[in-house]
Amino acid sequence: MTKVMTLGQFIIERQAEFPYAKGELSRLLRDIGIAAKIVNREVNKAGLVDILGEAGTMNVQGEAVKKLDVYANDQFISALQSGGECCLIASEENEDVIQINSEVSRNAKYIVAIDPLDGSSNIDVNVAVGTIFSIYRRKTESGPCTKEDVLQKGVDQVAAGYIIYGSSTMLVYTTGHGVNGFTLDPSIGEFCFSHPNMQFPKSGKMYSLNEGNYVHFPEGVKKYLKYCQVEDKETNRPYTSRYIGSMVADIHRNMIKGGIFIYPTTASSPKGKLRLVYECNPLAFIVEQAGGRATNGFTRIMDLNVKEIHQRTPIFIGSEEMVLKAEEFMREFS
Ligand code: AHG
Ligand code: MN
Ligand code: MN
Ligand code: MN
Repeated sequence: MTKVMTLGQFIIERQAEFPYAKGELSRLLRDIGIAAKIVNREVNKAGLVDILGEAGTMNVQGEAVKKLDVYANDQFISALQSGGECCLIASEENEDVIQINSEVSRNAKYIVAIDPLDGSSNIDVNVAVGTIFSIYRRKTESGPCTKEDVLQKGVDQVAAGYIIYGSSTMLVYTTGHGVNGFTLDPSIGEFCFSHPNMQFPKSGKMYSLNEGNYVHFPEGVKKYLKYCQVEDKETNRPYTSRYIGSMVADIHRNMIKGGIFIYPTTASSPKGKLRLVYECNPLAFIVEQAGGRATNGFTRIMDLNVKEIHQRTPIFIGSEEMVLKAEEFMREFS
């Protein structure tokens, strides 16, 4: 019987590597893990309980909000509010930041940016969805945190992670010392250490993008797409197209098998669709820590200036050699 190590045990063991830390980040990761288990329980029952379908409201993104978007958002916010380690939250589902002013949290060290339910369009059709989170240290010395505390570059993240609610439920995260994956064992209700030191394959054969937007893609993306589809035995082409519509699921699959995910500018999203603060920066941190690459086609995602909570950016992310090749086309045809 191999020794099972739970997320909690792993965090404590790794905690020993950071003597200066007093355990706040560990407790914050634990709080996120608890909310993830609660959301997972509802995702797994979706269809049996009244959690499918639209909530009947629009969010700041102009998207029709799903009941599970609201449920997940509520669960993560309440776990962070009661955990006491977070003083401010930025969520996809909230137009403005959420200050946590309780006695215990007002002076907490950490800020959390979160996409509580990624891939909402897949909820009602039983396809993998996810949660994405990003953790920063507060910049303001004391007193209530403000929006400025969350508008930090991706390079300043302290930790980032995602949960994928798929054929199994996994929590994958980094604190800047590599990427580790934990699989939920529902029989004991614990995330168990299953994927040590995850590495993004340097190259791959899969490309993930919504080709329905082809007509409005930048010329460089069109040329890269054709490059992927041309027969060339030496470079393993044509590649394979795989697109799930949940960023977490597409990137998780590519991290295991190798591949590139691209969401470029399109007619309906002239600045790109995906959000820098709670989708692109956390996933870029994880992918870079696993040896992959993440840019907007020209500039490293984690170096981009952050001006707005819901700021959008084009993103090219995945196997280093594939992203570099796509960037060559972007430079040549821009
Ligand atoms: P969210 O459900 O959090 O709004 O994110 C959905 C995102 C991302 O998960 C996915 O890759 C992308 O939207 C899919 O967009 P298209 O349907 O336009 O391809
Ligand atoms: Mn959304
Ligand atoms: Mn999302
Ligand atoms: Mn979302």
